[in-house]
Amino acid sequence: MIKKIKIEQLRPGIFVHDFNCDQSGENIFIDKSLIKSEKAVQIIQSWGIKEVYIDTDRGLDIEPAKRAGKVQQKTNKSLHKLAQKKELSASPSTPFKEEVKIARTIKNDAVDTVRQAMKTVQEGRNIDVGSAFQLVERMEESITRNKDALLLLTRMRKKDEYTLMHSISVSTLVLSFCNFSGIPYEMTINLAMGALLHDIGKTKIPDSILNKPGKLDEEEWAIMKKHAEYSAQVLAKTTELPPEAYDIALHHHERYDGTGYPHGLQGDTITFGSRITAICDVYDAITSEKCYRNGINRVKGLEKLYDWSDHHFDKELTYKFIQNIGVYPIGTCVRLENQLVGVVIESTENVLQPVVRIFYNDKKKAPVKVQEIDLSSVNINIASYDSPKNWPGNKIQTFRKSKNSLSPFH
Ligand SMILES: [Fe+2]
Ligand SMILES: [Fe+2]
Repeated sequence: MIKKIKIEQLRPGIFVHDFNCDQSGENIFIDKSLIKSEKAVQIIQSWGIKEVYIDTDRGLDIEPAKRAGKVQQKTNKSLHKLAQKKELSASPSTPFKEEVKIARTIKNDAVDTVRQAMKTVQEGRNIDVGSAFQLVERMEESITRNKDALLLLTRMRKKDEYTLMHSISVSTLVLSFCNFSGIPYEMTINLAMGALLHDIGKTKIPDSILNKPGKLDEEEWAIMKKHAEYSAQVLAKTTELPPEAYDIALHHHERYDGTGYPHGLQGDTITFGSRITAICDVYDAITSEKCYRNGINRVKGLEKLYDWSDHHFDKELTYKFIQNIGVYPIGTCVRLENQLVGVVIESTENVLQPVVRIFYNDKKKAPVKVQEIDLSSVNINIASYDSPKNWPGNKIQTFRKSKNSLSPFH
């Protein structure tokens, strides 16, 4: 049975099913494993982990502990409640279908701009701040016209372009959050600039560590953590950048309870920009596909954030982030009550009934003609969300080979 225990209860003989580590998305790759020594317990504590999930069939049982199923149910309920509390936002000024065409060009330009910035840094030159500002302004305009289009497109990426697309995606998430929260324009742009360049220091991390298809050892992990300071050093040389960008680069791995790095800052001594970028950064990292592993489902990603907001993140900002993203984030694969399967492509006023692009009938085990259904207008509910793992190559292939081989995503 899978149970959740506090880190103080961890001891040798316990089998850890999930380390529940918020760094697992970006930097650290931890397999399920049996705890063999006190030293291992100390290392795990030093990572700032507060609670872990254990498998009592493969190791010691511990009491008191909450069953994982119960924890999940409670979190799910809380997420639904939270999302439903959201005040109604104005309808988008541009329909999704129109904005997605403009957003596609912006995304392509963003890829060029960030790729160029990374190359410039590798060559020891300064970043072209003007073109980065222009890009972020265009991204902001797109999000203001329709918040879903760019968010969806920046989530679509190949496994080997992680660092590049991650920067663009985190910046888009920050823009969307600021827009939702009514943050003034100039501040919004400055924070999004910081988010766009927050991991630029990774260009100085050896590829053998950055893309290592396995566990980082202690030494490699220490080198990896240096990327925040490297990012700050790069941005410090670029005088036209706002101070917020420098701060985000340096402090996006700080954690609310002081367990982050590089300075172990706590609570509100971490700036608003770094607190919100940390949330967007972790959400994108844990839900992304990488060269060496699959990302977790986006709904699961929100559940994790909710869980970690007890210790690692600013709770208020995390709740707001979840309200903005919705219970079923754009790009989530969902199964409807009527067994149709599709991808969430657009939000509606009802957070539980978004617009879904249908492409498969699970009852008939066959692809169906691609169609978009606004669940709020036909009052159909989502029965469950699907893990990307349930959509292995063969099903996607069947879908692609079908007559209506439009991608389910765009
Ligand atoms: Fe980072
Ligand atoms: Fe990052």
